Amino acid sequence: MTVTEALNKRNSIRAYLPKPIPKETLMEVFTAAQRTPSWANTQPWEVFVATGDTLKRIKDAATGGAPGGGYGGGTDLPMPGEWSEDARRRTATIGASMQRDCGDAMGQFGSLNASMYNAPAVIYLCIDKAHGQWSLYDIGAYSQSVMLAAKERGLGTIPAIMLVTKPDVIRKELGIPDNLNIAIGIAIGYPDPDNKINNLHTERDDVNTAVRFGE
Ligand SMILES: Cc1cc2nc3c(=O)[nH]c(=O)nc-3n(C[C@H](O)[C@H](O)[C@H](O)COP(=O)(O)O)c2cc1C
Repeated sequence: MTVTEALNKRNSIRAYLPKPIPKETLMEVFTAAQRTPSWANTQPWEVFVATGDTLKRIKDAATGGAPGGGYGGGTDLPMPGEWSEDARRRTATIGASMQRDCGDAMGQFGSLNASMYNAPAVIYLCIDKAHGQWSLYDIGAYSQSVMLAAKERGLGTIPAIMLVTKPDVIRKELGIPDNLNIAIGIAIGYPDPDNKINNLHTERDDVNTAVRFGE
């Protein structure tokens, strides 16, 4: 698979098979992603992986199966405020894409989000609170490295804010120190080929609307 093929074929996966990922495979993904560029080679990504019972405890707490459970509670990083008109227009295309690609399966969107997509593993990407905003640029690049390296190995992924709305629970279960912000979660696993929610291929604006040359 070429990088361009991986870019074109990757999509967010919201339904997973109940099949564990071998640790060696996960380590291959992280080893590839470790080559991600960063500001002055600061490599600000701090990576925590929840699987098995640990993930189950996080899920129970996050989805209401445990005392104090349920979504809400906020995220370590502030939620976005206003979006531009163009951004709102692009987001608004998702509904029609879902109807086209997923049919009835689109009805599961909310419940799959709430059940953490039943993924066998969730990767939490954290950043030291001492770092400025530029580290978030590096974390974003690292995320894409993880997602493409996963795709190459037949694994699906989804970066999701829904995965990090219980930072206190995640911090406790994974022993994440207080000096780190939990930036984002990436669910990872083998895609369920029978769930049409995974067929969703969202639209992109024409490349010419994003790129301008000064010649
Ligand atoms: C920072 C970030 C947060 C996201 N949070 C969620 C989420 O909570 N739930 C969800 O279903 N998708 C979430 N997504 C996935 C986006 O909806 C998805 O990437 C976008 O619609 C483009 O679709 P694609 O990833 O299939 O190409 C998130 C993506 C990013 C980058």
